[in-house]
Amino acid sequence: MLNIIKVSNEEQFNEVGAGIIAGLLQTNPRAILGLATGSTPVGVYAHLIELYKKGLVSFAQATSYNLDEYIGLASDHPESYRRFMNEKLFNHVDIDLRNTYVPDGTASNPEQAAQEYTRMLDAAGRIDLQFLGIGHNGHIGFNEPADELHATTHVVALKEDTRQANARFFNSIDEVPTHAMTMGIASILKSKQILLMAKGESKAEVLARALTGPLTTQCPASLLQTHPNVVIVVDQAAGGMLK
Ligand code: F6R
Repeated sequence: MLNIIKVSNEEQFNEVGAGIIAGLLQTNPRAILGLATGSTPVGVYAHLIELYKKGLVSFAQATSYNLDEYIGLASDHPESYRRFMNEKLFNHVDIDLRNTYVPDGTASNPEQAAQEYTRMLDAAGRIDLQFLGIGHNGHIGFNEPADELHATTHVVALKEDTRQANARFFNSIDEVPTHAMTMGIASILKSKQILLMAKGESKAEVLARALTGPLTTQCPASLLQTHPNVVIVVDQAAGGMLK
């Protein structure tokens, strides 16, 4: 079931997204969160920090698993997803950093580290709420369009368009890592609920393809159509091509 919420401005976008995450933590303080990085969640996390400061939400008993991480960036590299999470959310709320997990992009054996991440996820049980953004090519996490998709956490070669899209955060495209580690599609779909957020006109076409087009591994987000509980929050621009 896809439930689409169209909001009219950036503030509402962040409020609605943060409200969904905070609402879960209010009813289930021990919730397991699946978290995303990128530009989409930044304002959502900022709003969550505000809610925390007002005493409206606590992360003290929560656990989080991030979707993905670049391979080869140290955890304190300005563009590593671990550092992003610490700076944009974790350092400003009461979450216990020991309960926050991000795939280890510095592991000497990334394949083994990916398997270890899958083992941890399996041991944790099901993620209560998985937060997702969507790539212009339809990727979720770093599950890139391909003939075949992986079920669990794995190492992936980033597509050129993904590296180019993310080059805005680096000094040059050459600095963008070529590989990442990402949760797989089955791990994402196993979550009890999924929150997909997208804003801006540049996401309109891929959102329409993902949500109303055929199921295809060439648009990994299209597989979300098989999930029983997906909430999609879009602004007017991103939702412009949805019926
Ligand atoms: C990030 C992630 C990616 C992004 C996607 C959209 O952890 O898994 O799938 O969600 O690339 O990125 P933004 O939000 O920067 O448009």
